[in-house]
Amino acid sequence: MKMSRNIVVLGIQWGDEGKGKVVDFLSKKAKYVVRCQGGNNAGHTLIYNDKRIVLHLIPSGILHSNIIPIIGNGVVLSPVELLKEIFLLEKEGINIRNRLILSPLCQLVLEYHVEMDIAREEFLGNKSIGTTGRGIGPAYEDKVARRGLRIIDLFDMDGLCLKLKDILNIYNFQLKFFYKRKSVSYDLILNNLINISEIIKDMVLDVTNLLRKVSKNNLFTIFEGAQGVLLDIDYGTYPYVTSSNTTIGGIITGTGISIRDIKYVLGVMKAYTTRVGFGPFPTELFDETGEYLCHAGNEYGSTTGRKRRVGWLDLVAVKKTIYSNSLSGICITKLDVLDKLKEIKICIDYRCTSNLSSYMLQSGMLPDKLEPVYEIIPGWQKSTCGTKCLNDLPLLALNYIRRLEDILGISIDFISTGPNREEIIILNERF
Ligand code: GDP
Ligand code: IMO
Ligand code: MG
Repeated sequence: MKMSRNIVVLGIQWGDEGKGKVVDFLSKKAKYVVRCQGGNNAGHTLIYNDKRIVLHLIPSGILHSNIIPIIGNGVVLSPVELLKEIFLLEKEGINIRNRLILSPLCQLVLEYHVEMDIAREEFLGNKSIGTTGRGIGPAYEDKVARRGLRIIDLFDMDGLCLKLKDILNIYNFQLKFFYKRKSVSYDLILNNLINISEIIKDMVLDVTNLLRKVSKNNLFTIFEGAQGVLLDIDYGTYPYVTSSNTTIGGIITGTGISIRDIKYVLGVMKAYTTRVGFGPFPTELFDETGEYLCHAGNEYGSTTGRKRRVGWLDLVAVKKTIYSNSLSGICITKLDVLDKLKEIKICIDYRCTSNLSSYMLQSGMLPDKLEPVYEIIPGWQKSTCGTKCLNDLPLLALNYIRRLEDILGISIDFISTGPNREEIIILNERF
């Protein structure tokens, strides 16, 4: 029997680890790239030939003409935002429409989800989550409440109209009477759906069935995670999380792929830590070093443009993700951002009075004084920017990589040394 060549790429911090860049790099040998969960809360940046493209819904292999992009059933899909992204890419000369495949089971993100997301965040004030305001939470809520509209509903417009009326009644009641906001227009949503549905309907295919055949035929497929595992609805820093499973489970339920057909799982980890939105962040920096990392790493959100919070690499948090996500190897990104630092800190433990310390990050009960224990590593103070060959890496940078491997107990298979596609060192390619 032929072995499958499916690999999974997961962010293993709080998102924005550089998944887009890594998937773009790996895609040159791939046939399919699949988005599995999340929605247009994601912002994946690709830089190639001096062009910067930020993708929110379309898989990050799209710049390669050999790639067939797929959006699996676990993704919550805004038809309006999808169309915007298609137009944007077409303006860049990238052909999408006869390549993109959509699962009929994707839940739709509609205008009332966005309104509700924004209304709630405003209402919560300083207790808000800091969402991207893209309607992601409400859309997943409708899915679980078994009242969501899906792509498949576009094939039965009469039925869709009835369901839409019912859902909109619930939303508009809350928006008007509780949040004191304007209600959302039924006609606006319906007109948008009618205009877009013919384009979308042409892209619909049974994704799980396709992936079964693809796996049998040994075609290299990349399953692209969105967000990061610390934002997972179950395993993340609840309630400061997103509304999907960003861990390996989300890849499986979000596409229907068999776990037996996953050959390799790559965890993408930034050489330091960032987070957008609120929630615990034990290694966060509020000093000049934090400002420096933010500036050198250009840490501004790819989706909302918000300044990202910045801190040292938290190996306690990362280590917890390795086992339950079946990580096979790690790609460390943004090594070059550390180039000028005299010393680099890595968090190897938390000093904490409670015996629940290993659950602290995942509980809402994180004490204010969860103090990180740091190991200090000497900086290399030489440029690694754009390095593609391991031998060209300064010895101290290599020592840093080896120390991370020791602590984490997993091999670092790739080192990303710049935002451009080819700025990467391959240490081990095991797929
Ligand atoms: P994603 O959401 O995980 O795809 O990450 P984002 O695209 O939101 O944020 C990562 C940012 O870092 C983007 O601006 C990338 O262009 C950039 N980037 C990715 N890898 C590297 C790297 O190795 N070095 C540097 N300097 N920038 C990188
Ligand atoms: P990529 O794929 C970083 C964060 C938001 C907020 C929380 C909930 O680019 O790594 P949501 O809008 O999902 O309800 O917001 O999750 N968040 C992300 N942070 N990168 C992302 O995606 C994110 N997607 C959501 O900032 O804290
Ligand atoms: Mg991002």
